[in-house]
Amino acid sequence: MPSAAELTDGDLVLRPWSDEDARAVALTPASPEIGRYFGPAFGAPPAPDAEAPAFAIVAGGAPVGRIWCAAQKRPFEVGYFLRPEVWGRGLARRSLVLVRDFLLASGETSVVLCTHPENERSQRVAARAGFRPAGEIAEYARFGDGTTRALRFVYP
Ligand SMILES: CC(C)(COP(=O)(O)OP(=O)(O)OC[C@H]1O[C@@H](n2cnc3c(N)ncnc32)[C@H](O)[C@@H]1OP(=O)(O)O)[C@@H](O)C(=O)NCCC(=O)NCCS
Repeated sequence: MPSAAELTDGDLVLRPWSDEDARAVALTPASPEIGRYFGPAFGAPPAPDAEAPAFAIVAGGAPVGRIWCAAQKRPFEVGYFLRPEVWGRGLARRSLVLVRDFLLASGETSVVLCTHPENERSQRVAARAGFRPAGEIAEYARFGDGTTRALRFVYP
């Protein structure tokens, strides 16, 4: 895996995630605004994974979200979130397409994405980026609502 380069698609830029981006985006999977469909994974926290890229989603010059590959998961499993004020503009789909293509160009043969079964927005993003349903995981993580089941999607 080459180190995460800057990926771009016109006015959308994905750049390697930095502490400065974390301060500017000011959300994490635990934030109430976006955290409904995230939850702590089971078991011990994963060890750091320098091979798993993470990017800031930068639109109109401003960092507005994050897209990353989960530590210690292979094939790579992508997660993402955006600040709510930019939802609905296609930024998540375009970001997922950029990361998907970056991973494949880096030699990966498939990319995975998992969502809470009720996270229809994210499932639309996955479908529009060409991911196909690939079953479900009964005990994926403890989501905010106490459930543990996730739908799994893969590309190609
Ligand atoms: C998931 C998330 C990144 C999507 O961001 P976004 O910028 O709105 O995504 P896009 O604009 O690229 O696409 C959203 C799609 O959902 C659809 N959509 C919008 N509102 C919806 C709703 N209430 N229910 C179902 N689908 C909806 C849109 O029409 C669009 O589909 P389309 O391209 O077929 O028209 C954003 O909502 C978010 O950060 N959510 C919280 C964190 C999260 O759930 N992350 C994913 C964990 S797996």
